[in-house]
Amino acid sequence: MTVVTCVEDLRLLAKKRVPRMFYEYADSGSWTESTYRANESDFGKLLLRQRVAVNMENRSTRTTMVGQEVAMPVALAPVGLTGMQHADGEILAARAARRFGVPFTLSTMSICSIEDVSTALGGDPFWFQLYVMKDRHFIEGLIDRAKSAACSALVLTLDLQIIGQRHKDLRNGLSAPPRLTLPNILNMATKPRWGLGMLGTPRRHFGNIVGHVKGVADMGSLSEWTSRQFDPALSWRDVEWIKDRWGGKLVLKGIQDVEDARLAVDSGADALIVSNHGGRQLDGAQSSISALPAIVEAVGQRIEVHMDGGIRSGQDVLKAVALGARGTYIGRPYVYGLGAMGEQGVTKCLEMIHKELDVTMALCGHTRIDQVDSRILLDVPQEWLARSRPRLEVLSAEKPALAA
Ligand code: GLV
Repeated sequence: MTVVTCVEDLRLLAKKRVPRMFYEYADSGSWTESTYRANESDFGKLLLRQRVAVNMENRSTRTTMVGQEVAMPVALAPVGLTGMQHADGEILAARAARRFGVPFTLSTMSICSIEDVSTALGGDPFWFQLYVMKDRHFIEGLIDRAKSAACSALVLTLDLQIIGQRHKDLRNGLSAPPRLTLPNILNMATKPRWGLGMLGTPRRHFGNIVGHVKGVADMGSLSEWTSRQFDPALSWRDVEWIKDRWGGKLVLKGIQDVEDARLAVDSGADALIVSNHGGRQLDGAQSSISALPAIVEAVGQRIEVHMDGGIRSGQDVLKAVALGARGTYIGRPYVYGLGAMGEQGVTKCLEMIHKELDVTMALCGHTRIDQVDSRILLDVPQEWLARSRPRLEVLSAEKPALAA
């Protein structure tokens, strides 16, 4: 029996247990994967200050994200095809998140539908991530379905209107469900646990789409529909329209630049997520953690700033909080947990991240996450802020646009 001690253990187990095309779908960045790698490695540039003889009793990692109580500042990020990492993956992850007390975000491109997850949670709220498609009627329907399911936040993704190329997906012929080609059959034959699970569930298609769009019933028509449907004309006017139609907490995902952060504030959203889509979109963009300080400096007083990308431990969560993130998101870590051990693996992932966060916070001399700031860090790489300095200066000269 493998002893799981960290997210890397879950990744290695998932790699053994999940068919190659789905494991590699998660463990991929676009093109050279340089941004994907930088998301993780830049956390290593932040050194922590050890403090001693500080009372470490009565610690708390509890805080809020968009006004909702969370056991720690970590939400499960929206991840497409989660129900292909493990049968009923979205339902299992949502249950583990609820038990732990952190938000679960269901992707538009999930396998289990909004209604499946809502029913499995007995009507308890979760978050829903929206992609904007050309078919506005379909989007209206999705927003209304998320409202009916009592989703308590809408996460609108802004950075994937055209898709970055992930070489492995092309080589593997990624599809859901997988096509029964000889290489796929041979590979799936080595993953009996996964296969048995899949045989036992009816949920093997994109549950939010199939059956909800006229003419989209099988895989062929679906892949054609999605590649045609992501709307490259998405603009801030659409954000306004979506905000009005939704009427609840709105989180804008995919902000990397201080100018876009300012526009996010102007849109009236409740939070923005500093994100480069896990290094899966614009390869060559800066890492999320290095983009965070300038965005916090530009807009941190006027909107909740969250971040995702590269978090593999509770230490990374603490570093993001130290740089001003009110909340963080994990994608791959919980997906690896799911592929490795199902619901139990997601719980394990959350427990490990919580423990790392709690112990690191204590060793840095703090007992409450909401009191952590950049003083727990030895320093912040000067180039991270310097890179955005010229644009920060232009923005602060444009006071009216920046005014609260
Ligand atoms: C979709 O969100 C993807 O990154 O594959």
